Amino acid sequence: MEQKIGRRKIILSGIQPSGKLHLGNLIGAIRNWVRLQDEYQCYFAIVDMHAITVPTEPSKLKVQTLDLAAMLIACGIDPNKSVLFIQSHVPEHAQLAWVLNCYTSMGELNRMTQFKDKSAKQKDFINVGLFTYPVLQAADILLYQADLVPVGEDQKQHLELSRNIAERFNYYFPDTFNLPEPMIPEVGARIMSLQDPTKKMSKSDENEKSIIYISDSENEIKNKIKRAVTDSGANVKYTDKKPGIKNLIAIYHIATGLSIPEIEQKFANKGYGEFKVAVAEALVEYLTPIRNKYLELKSNQKELKSILASGADAARKVANKTLRKVYKKIGFIVE
Ligand code: AMP
Ligand code: TRP
Repeated sequence: MEQKIGRRKIILSGIQPSGKLHLGNLIGAIRNWVRLQDEYQCYFAIVDMHAITVPTEPSKLKVQTLDLAAMLIACGIDPNKSVLFIQSHVPEHAQLAWVLNCYTSMGELNRMTQFKDKSAKQKDFINVGLFTYPVLQAADILLYQADLVPVGEDQKQHLELSRNIAERFNYYFPDTFNLPEPMIPEVGARIMSLQDPTKKMSKSDENEKSIIYISDSENEIKNKIKRAVTDSGANVKYTDKKPGIKNLIAIYHIATGLSIPEIEQKFANKGYGEFKVAVAEALVEYLTPIRNKYLELKSNQKELKSILASGADAARKVANKTLRKVYKKIGFIVE
């Protein structure tokens, strides 16, 4: 396509406003987004329309959407470099999703493992939005002619579907969509639960003590690290046999930038207790500037909303261009 020549590659990703961000999200996803901003033209969508495919309390959704925006900026998503916006502020997402629904088969959507998992949990009322969720996701991506889509491994199937829909549409109407590729981080950047280090740190965990939220206070961080589950040994050694200590070493590595051997050496003759105190202190130091920035943005909702309005304006310009192209191709009357 002509606009591909010489242009910066385009990245789009989406994140649901469905809970507070934790250390796992920061390390596994957000930190990578922050790094991509200089090299690529990035679009980051807070996907509130996806969030309502499962039962959602309106007052909670409101708070979580603005909180997530504040947190993403605090973590380093720079609205001057990237386009950060709320999905429902850009109606083209719903408009393109409708068109794409007509180019997607029931069979394809029936094969989506996330639909199977989530619908199994909503047996008495499976809403159609949950079924067509991946089509809305395809619209998110295709509207911006994204080249790359940074996502976790669990989203690979949705990405393949987006690509198939784009290919099918391009077969009928050539040169409409760019074909997106997933960008999946290599494993190794997984943060584990503090209470059961064989499971990943997850927002769906009922035990709050197992999760470090990025917005946690100094005391909360210190208490959670102090109570983190470790084995009965005493050596600070990075090994699969000691998943609890291994996770704490990984966290210390992230917070301080020290290498694993450096950390092992530093704590060679020290016990777990002393190591935990050091981990807690390093983590507090690492997260405090983010937390402060987050609190500052949260207390200035006017500024936050204005950043999101500018993001939506910028997103709409691009999205509308793609939508009009699609409308014309399929025979809608476009003035
Ligand atoms: P979720 O909170 O499950 O919706 O995940 C949002 C993003 O954070 C995805 O890209 C995940 O891959 C990433 N993520 C979630 N939990 C972790 C974790 N414990 N370690 C590393 N990355 C994570
Ligand atoms: N489904 C994604 C998730 O749960 C979120 C998402 C929505 C997304 N639209 C997207 C991710 C577009 C990448 C691109 O994580």
